[in-house]
Formats: sequence, C-alpha cells, structure tokens
Amino acid sequence: MMDWTTADCRYLHRLITRHTLLYTEMVTTGALLHGDQGRHLDFNAEEHPVALQLGGSEPEDLAACARLAERWGYDEVNLNCGCPSERVQKGAFGACLMAEPQLVADCVKAMRDATALPVTVKHRIGIDRIESYDFVRDFVGSVAAAGCEVFIVHARNAWLQGLSPKENREIPPLRYELVARLKREFPQLTIAVNGGLKTPDEIAAQLELLDGVMVGREAYHEPWSMVQWDSRFFGQPDPAASREQVEAAWLDYLDRVHASGRSWAHAMRHALGLWNGTPGARRWRQVWSDHRLKALPPREVARQATAARLSGAAVAA
Ligand SMILES: Cc1cc2nc3c(=O)[nH]c(=O)nc-3n(C[C@H](O)[C@H](O)[C@H](O)COP(=O)(O)O)c2cc1C
Repeated sequence: MMDWTTADCRYLHRLITRHTLLYTEMVTTGALLHGDQGRHLDFNAEEHPVALQLGGSEPEDLAACARLAERWGYDEVNLNCGCPSERVQKGAFGACLMAEPQLVADCVKAMRDATALPVTVKHRIGIDRIESYDFVRDFVGSVAAAGCEVFIVHARNAWLQGLSPKENREIPPLRYELVARLKREFPQLTIAVNGGLKTPDEIAAQLELLDGVMVGREAYHEPWSMVQWDSRFFGQPDPAASREQVEAAWLDYLDRVHASGRSWAHAMRHALGLWNGTPGARRWRQVWSDHRLKALPPREVARQATAARLSGAAVAA
C-alpha cells in the first residue's frame, strides 16, 4: 500500500507474523527504470517472503523490472491491475488494465520470460459499471493463458470516474461470491481474496473456499490483529509473545534507523497502532507523534511513551 507498506512497516509486521507474505507499495516501472533503484527496492533481510508490486503496462519495461526484482532478492513479482487513481489511469495502468486483458497477458508473459520468480496479478472484479461475472472470468482466463497462476482479487469494482481512490476502497460493493466462483471455475489457479476482511474468523471463513486472503488496512492500523496468524493459518509458532516484546525489538530497529541518520519518526508512524485496544494506548500514541520530541533519541521517547501509557492505564483502571 502506497506510503504504508514501506520496508520499515514490513519489518514491524515481521515481528508479529513470520509466515505471511508481505507486499511492497506499488512501484512504477518508470520510477524503477529512471529513478533511484536502491531507494525503491532495498529491504531488510528479515522481511522474507516479500513480493514486489509493479505498476506499468509496457511489457518490456515490466520485464526489465521483473529482472530487477529477482536481482534484489524478492520472492515474487506482482502486477497491479487494481489501482483506480487518476494519476495511474493517465499512465494507463492499474485498474484500467482490466479493460485490456490481452495487454495484461502480454505483460505477464514478458515478465515470466524475464524471471524465474512467480509472477502474480492483483485486480478488481470489474471496472466502472460492468457488473457481470463474465468480465472478470474472461480477464482471469486470458491472463492465466499467459502463465499467471496466482490472482489476488479485490472483491469490488473500481469506478474509474468520479470516485477518489479512498472512496474506491469503500463505496463499490464487496462481492465475495464472484471470487469464490472464480475458484470453482479455475480450480487449478491460486485465488486469493482481498477487501474488507479483518478478523481471523473472517479470514478463516474465506480460506474454506479460497487459497489465500490479503489483508490491507486492518493489518496496517491494527498490527496486533496478526498476532495469531502464524499458528492459525500456517501451523507454526507465533513469534510475538506480547506487545512489550514486539515494542522492544522494534525499538532496537528504531535505534538502528536513528544511528543511520534516517528519521526514526518516519518509521515509527507505522507502529502507532501497536497498543490499540489497550488502556493507555492513546497517550502512548500521542507521545510518539509529538513533533517536539522528534529530535530526541527513540529510546528517550519510548521511555516517555511507556510512562504515559501506564499512567493512562492507571487512570482507566
Ligand atoms: C493507503 C493505501 C494505499 C494503497 N496502495 C495500494 C497499492 O500500492 N497497491 C495495491 O495493490 N493496492 C493498494 N491499496 C489497496 C489495498 O491493497 C487493498 O486492496 C484495499 O485497501 C482493500 O483491502 P482492505 O479492505 O483489506 O484494506 C492501498 C490501500 C490504501 C488504504
């Protein structure tokens, strides 16, 4: 998610779930081919497995970027066919690519020819007022014929005119049944569903029908919601015993960020939800977001934030 699932954010999430596949923000082919590749592609070794999401519509450019993904050590490369923003539409990629399944197929083929990494596609169930199942079925069928085996389906349409990207994540109705139907029609494909899913029970219910679930906003705002995902969905031990333990490991990370000369506050914004739902969480968040404290070392801010949280908890009790 743009501005959200940065390397810092993914490092935090890895402290809470080791086995969930993490995705980068969308990076455009133009930014990668003409910009600072290290800035866009560098990540922490701890983040594996991690997928690079690309935005673009030129097969050759996407192929070159898929090669970069492999060189940088990513585990998967994903093509965005779901973003509705106007800026992205001007670049003729994102959700408007759903109107051009053959072009997407060409892109996927070029990427697959360029890399041994899995090439996956994230898309919507339709664009604008196209409500028919046939549209998304034909899209998936064409792209699968080019060799794509994994589809992540945001289960609502993208309305390309008149809605902001935020509204496009809220207003078009969710239609999970279309995603389940895709899985029934293409049992050999890996189909994951995305959109509006929050609790482990909601995720588990989808996993009865589908191969995977992608969670966006809930994982970001409520990182602790992922705490039992490893045991429940991967049959593996959960890495995080307590929020205190995660905060301690995260603070070590912030120390390293600070020592490297980067702003720790820039990384910390992704962790502000860590204590959500517990007494004192608001005070803890307020201290960490206080602009006047940003010149201090993170450990000093942590000391103040914990004191505020515990006094907030005492007041609440
Ligand atoms: C701030 C923000 C940025 C996003 N950026 C991307 C992106 O770069 N690529 C993408 O495929 N989806 C992006 N999305 C959409 C989410 O991946 C997801 O499809 C959508 O939020 C619905 O899932 P959710 O209800 O679990 O959040 C973004 C969402 C938000 C809130």
